[in-house]
Amino acid sequence: MVRLHDVFKTYPNGTKALRGVTFSLESGEFAFLVGPSGSGKSTVIRMLIGEIAPTEGGIVVSGFDLTTIKPRKLPYLRRRVGVIFQDFRLIDKKTVHDNIAFAMRAVGASVKEIRRRVPYVLDLVGLDAKAKSYPPELSGGEQQRVAIARALVNNPDLIVADEPTGNLDPARSLEILTLLQKINELGTTVLVVTHEKSLVDKLSRRVIAIDDGRIISDGTGGYYGYEEY
Ligand SMILES: Nc1ncnc2c1ncn2[C@@H]1O[C@H](COP(=O)(O)OP(=O)(O)OP(=O)(O)O)[C@@H](O)[C@H]1O
Ligand SMILES: [Mg+2]
Repeated sequence: MVRLHDVFKTYPNGTKALRGVTFSLESGEFAFLVGPSGSGKSTVIRMLIGEIAPTEGGIVVSGFDLTTIKPRKLPYLRRRVGVIFQDFRLIDKKTVHDNIAFAMRAVGASVKEIRRRVPYVLDLVGLDAKAKSYPPELSGGEQQRVAIARALVNNPDLIVADEPTGNLDPARSLEILTLLQKINELGTTVLVVTHEKSLVDKLSRRVIAIDDGRIISDGTGGYYGYEEY
């Protein structure tokens, strides 16, 4: 599903953000990506959605070779990969329903498909009662769930989430992570960037730890001697 092989990324200003990153996610897997600020987590996420290209190394996502992909093929990749950003990126002037419908229209879904699918995903994230609300009328956790509904509405193979619990209290954070696990159980591969060490420890899932652009541990059930993230 996802393969990174010895990936390096040097930004135009010379910052070496990734220095040989290798890991794979099998189809249907769930993993956390953890590491200190500036370690390269968002760089990995931005590469997986084709927003930036690697300087060196190989990346394949859902059958797309991202080292050679043509810009005109990126929309096809983006149908297969749903992304959740920390700052939600919702459209305040559109209702919850229309924010999600908009993501479907962007990939050419029919009115009939939109009518069927939007209520389904809103129900899945527990927001069916808020379909007609506008994002500024929602709590942070509710807005985050709209962002999740939008990420999964096109039925992607992979969902990547960059700090999806960033501004939430621990109870809401656990709710969001539980929801992402539920989505994973329905068959979607999920990669979650998080700083929530206590939650990561509690959930005993695979944890990929990155530091200074390198993978320093990769295993299940703990943070592998990695104290600060
Ligand atoms: N567009 C950019 N141009 C130059 N350097 C960048 C750019 N984006 C990120 N960096 C640098 O690359 C390194 C990795 O950044 P990245 O955003 O991937 O870290 P992160 O692990 O997501 O950190 P955080 O937990 O703070 O979000 C940092 O040194 C950062 O300053
Ligand atoms: Mg980041």
